[in-house]
Amino acid sequence: PMITIIGAGRVGASTAYSLLMNEVDTEITLIDIVQGLPQGEALDLNHAAAILGKSVTVKGSNDYKDMEGSDIVIITAGLARKPGMTREQLAAQNAEIVAGIADQVRKYAPNSIVMLTTNPSDVMVYVLYKRLKFPRERVIGFSGALDTRRLAYYASQIIGISPSAIIPVVLGQHGENMYPVPEASMVYGKPLSEFLTKEQMDEIVKKTIQAGADITNLRKFSSNWGPGAGLTIMADAIKKDRKTVIEASVYLDGEYGVKDVFVEVPVVFGKRGAEKVIELNLNAEQRRKFMESVEAVKNNLKTVPP
Ligand code: NAI
Repeated sequence: PMITIIGAGRVGASTAYSLLMNEVDTEITLIDIVQGLPQGEALDLNHAAAILGKSVTVKGSNDYKDMEGSDIVIITAGLARKPGMTREQLAAQNAEIVAGIADQVRKYAPNSIVMLTTNPSDVMVYVLYKRLKFPRERVIGFSGALDTRRLAYYASQIIGISPSAIIPVVLGQHGENMYPVPEASMVYGKPLSEFLTKEQMDEIVKKTIQAGADITNLRKFSSNWGPGAGLTIMADAIKKDRKTVIEASVYLDGEYGVKDVFVEVPVVFGKRGAEKVIELNLNAEQRRKFMESVEAVKNNLKTVPP
């Protein structure tokens, strides 16, 4: 068993570091098209492992064949947005990259569980799924782990309790039409909405949707540590068959009354991947907002070739 990360850029390298720190696997392979980049990152990461006493070996490669033997493949390859851009504007260019990588994964790691961050992630994971033709449990779009914890973080700052005490809910698209749901988010069985004023709820919803853009505008780069951490808990849950619930973008086949689209929902993670979708009871107003978010993903899907 081994974890391969395709795309040794900022998200790929941070994910490798986080996987290494947490010893999620003993072998990590980084693959990129840029000559020398994955090899350089691998050397640096091996030094870090030697310093920290981590029993993990990292390999860098420009050859897709080196993913052979991987039980988990994480795709972080593609263009990232610049300040002022939306994730949706990356669709056409990144779809081509993702389709090409899908063919390689199908060839060299046909039994793997595949996770992807490439934006717009709900659209790119659909492209990946159609091309890979793997069962839906094994094709997972990243972001729910991040978007939910961003909501928990902003709420925790106001309430003054740990983000880990909050079970946050964010549904739909990873993008401008994301639907954070503080009324359905809980602190030990009590809805977040009972801890916050209407204005505070609106504020944390807005901050959660804007979080990615806020980071991009501040740093001129998009986020990398949050995605690295989120991918780590997902890979760990799969490796250890934890059956923990993490939000992710998965293929809906009738759940929530929706078909043939990937959107963020709570999912049970175990050794088979995204094993089961948890369906929340949404009231009419929540259902309307959820469907708006689903429609936004469907509209964005029209911008990529079938
Ligand atoms: P980056 O530009 O630092 O790294 C991307 C890497 O992909 C580059 O090293 C590039 O050489 C490589 N690459 C391009 N085509 C490739 C191919 N065919 N095979 C292998 N490698 C290839 O970008 P960064 O910041 O790491 O972001 C990566 C992607 O993840 C972007 O699309 C970004 O928008 C997305 N992202 C998604 C998040 C999410 O929550 N879903 C959060 C942060 C980033």
